[in-house]
Formats: sequence, structure tokens, C-alpha cells
Amino acid sequence: MTSGTVWGLGVGPGDPELLTLKALRILRAVPVIAYPAPDTGESFARAVAAPHLPGGQTEIAIRMPLGDGQFPKAEIYDAAAAEILSHIEERRDVAVLCEGDPFFYGSFMYLYERLAPRCPVHVVPGVSSLMACAGAAGSPLAARNDVLTIIPAPLPEEELRARLAGAEAAAFVKVGRHFAKLKRVIAAEGLTATAHYVERASLAAERVLPLADVQEDRAPYFSMVLVHRRGRAWR
Ligand SMILES: C[S@@+](CC[C@H](N)C(=O)[O-])C[C@H]1O[C@@H](n2cnc3c(N)ncnc32)[C@H](O)[C@@H]1O
Repeated sequence: MTSGTVWGLGVGPGDPELLTLKALRILRAVPVIAYPAPDTGESFARAVAAPHLPGGQTEIAIRMPLGDGQFPKAEIYDAAAAEILSHIEERRDVAVLCEGDPFFYGSFMYLYERLAPRCPVHVVPGVSSLMACAGAAGSPLAARNDVLTIIPAPLPEEELRARLAGAEAAAFVKVGRHFAKLKRVIAAEGLTATAHYVERASLAAERVLPLADVQEDRAPYFSMVLVHRRGRAWR
């Protein structure tokens, strides 16, 4: 039986110009778009894609608790997968808008898991916040044989210390309310002076600072800290 296709579309880190040409083509062509959205308020992924939307598309807002420390219940993904599948069975393609890249800590994987056994699902990679933050900070992530470690800041302090101790280059994601703890960990390794803090990379509100200059003990959800043991990867 022929059916529609589900597209996991990476929409990039925030700047609407950072969509790929492929994502743009599919975004404009599909009759249905779906996107994660907070319990109340606007979807970040939809806002990124908004300037490109042709109008007249059916929209599925997948409402879920979003942000620091939030892991939506399985039932939310079950219901969203069922709604998407109802369009697919009617041969309507569905694009699921994903912030950054769909498979880099992206919730799209939970829809993929449910939908891929049942219909064609394709992932269109996106510009990840990791790349956007490195570019904004003017700090290459890794060079030569460096091992780059991605570390979620919500991990316990001892684990953050152990992970950073073994890392040549590290990117801390999900900083949010874990910022004070993270700053202690980086200071204990003697890396504060060369670490970079990046908030809302590629958006108009982008903020890039040496970590040493950031006074706050909380950061927004869309923030990252980059560290390289040599100070800069090119050294
Ligand atoms: C659940 S992960 C999703 C990552 C996304 N799939 C990607 O490829 O960028 C969310 C984390 O990515 C980082 N992030 C996402 N967008 C960002 C941005 N525009 N600026 C800084 N950090 C960002 C933050 O650390 C945030 O807590």
C-alpha cells in the first residue's frame, strides 16, 4: 500500500536562514506540519520555520512540558504518532519540525521509534546548535585527534567533574539552572579563563561571553558552554 512520508526536518538553531535547501523544499511542499510546543505558548521550531511557511497547511502542535529536566510521557508521543499516522494513511506527507538537528538530543527520535516500523520516515539533518555556538564563539570544537565530549549539565557534579577531567574538548548542553554547578566544575579543572558561554546562538538575542565574565548563576534553556583544554583547538 502506498502511503505518505514522514519527514524529520532539522530547522537549525534559530536563524531562519540556517534551514537547509532540502528542509526548505520539503517544508513548503507538505500538506501537514507537526512540531513540539510547550504546554502553553509558542513552538520554537515553528517560530524558526514561520517565515518560510506557505500558509494553508494543517498543523499539529505536539504539546508537552519542554525545557530543563522535562521528559514528556510516552503517551504524548503515542498520541502524536497516531495523529501523524492518520495523515500518512490518507497519503498526506507530514513534516515534523525539529530544532537544530533531529537526532542530536532531539525528541523527534521518540516519534521515529514509533513511526519507522509503520511508514516511510526520513531524517533531514539540520544545523545543530553545537555548530552554531562554536561559530558564534569563534572557537572551533576540535582539531587533529581531539576527542570532543558532549556533556549534559544536569548530570551530578561528581560525574561532570569526571567527564571533564578526561576531556580534551567539551560542550555542555542543557545548562539552565545547572549553571552555578557547571561553573564550579570548570573552575576546579582550571579551565574558566578559556571557556566560552553562548546563549541563543544565531538569534537576534544571541549573547556570547567569556565564561569568566558571566555573573548569573542561571542560564536560559538555549545556552551552551564550550571548553577546550588547549584554550583554542588550533593550538
Ligand atoms: C534537547 S537539546 C536539542 C539540541 C538540538 N537538537 C540541536 O541539534 O541543536 C537542547 C539544548 O541544545 C542547546 N541549544 C539549542 N539551541 C541553542 C541555541 N540556539 N543556542 C545555544 N544553545 C542551544 C542548549 O544547550 C539546549 O539546552
